[in-house]
Amino acid sequence: MNYTAYCFDAFGTLFNVSWDGIKVTEIEEHKLKSVISTWRIKQLTATWLMNSMGVYKPFDQVSGEALEKSFAIHEVDSPKLFQEILGQVLRPELFADVSESLHSLKEAGHQVGILSNGTSEMLEEVSRISGVSEWLDQLISVDELEVFKPAPEVYALAVQKMEVDTDDFLFVSSNQWDVIGAMYAGLQTAWLNRTGVIWESIDIQPQMTLSSMEELVHSITESEQ
Ligand code: LAC
Repeated sequence: MNYTAYCFDAFGTLFNVSWDGIKVTEIEEHKLKSVISTWRIKQLTATWLMNSMGVYKPFDQVSGEALEKSFAIHEVDSPKLFQEILGQVLRPELFADVSESLHSLKEAGHQVGILSNGTSEMLEEVSRISGVSEWLDQLISVDELEVFKPAPEVYALAVQKMEVDTDDFLFVSSNQWDVIGAMYAGLQTAWLNRTGVIWESIDIQPQMTLSSMEELVHSITESEQ
């Protein structure tokens, strides 16, 4: 495995958007788990529906509206809790293995980027706060095209921005639908399966499955020796 450019999905892949990344005390754990899981489903399905309808809204707005829906579904009525959770889902923490791995890729002379549904401002903010800006050459947001992943033109934009041939570009995501979208757009992909879940698609398989960012870096280092 040896590519010139490595491009990562952001939310769910580099940044933890699941319930265990949220620190609040005002709500029981099982309810928080359900609120966050519904939030994520509502957030993502909104983007797919908007793509079908030819509509676009910035991802922070989509995310806020999804959290409102989740609070309503779970009958949680606390503006304070809403703001606390919203702040954390818009600025999630990095998974523990990300910073060191991005650093290693950059130090080894690769191009490193993010391709995300998040707005440019969101990507700049989360990269800066989490301290990984200097390991990232490109923060590529769908807001330039006003269409969400998995629209094929978004993946094509990432290859174009990183100025490499498709063969020299690897897209890495933990989101199965994102890996599938990138493959249908003609990209080579790695699925980052941190939680050991099953691959659900019957007709398409990722080129590579990894259990951690460290495994990705290790495979690259091995192949370059
Ligand atoms: C992203 C979404 C999928 O970062 O979480 O693009």
